Amino acid sequence: MRNRLLLPVLLATCCIQVQAKETPADNYKAYCVQCHGGDGKGGGVNIRDIAVVPRDHTDVKSMSGRSDETLFKAIKEGGASIDKSILMPPWDATLSDEEIKDMVQYLRVLCKCNFGS
Ligand code: HEC
Repeated sequence: MRNRLLLPVLLATCCIQVQAKETPADNYKAYCVQCHGGDGKGGGVNIRDIAVVPRDHTDVKSMSGRSDETLFKAIKEGGASIDKSILMPPWDATLSDEEIKDMVQYLRVLCKCNFGS
């Protein structure tokens, strides 16, 4: 009887993995660098073939003019939602609201600016 109980308990402890939360830096590396570049300056591998240059996320001047809400909307609903290019894709199917909020804070770190909020 004891042994029969032990097996499921062992299986449960070994095989349930705690899903580590992705950091915004991980998500940026996975989804944003192709266009915005590894350093956020807008020089990703895609830029040769896209008509609109991706935002330089380290440009304090232009990033400071954006509120957190605007950046959130741009990431969640795509460039067109803030009257920018459709070449900036919407990420609502990929990132949760919480991950997008974290990403906005990450962009503030990249641009070393914290305005507009
Ligand atoms: C397929 C290329 C592409 C990918 C991938 C991409 N972007 Fe963009 N992004 C753009 C382009 C192009 C623009 C500029 C749009 C414009 O100026 O009209 C832009 C603009 C933005 C803006 C608006 C900045 C502003 O204030 O105008 C934000 C915020 C942004 N991107 C964040 C992200 C994040 C975060 C990711 C990853 C989750 C990402 N982008 C992935 C192409 C891309």
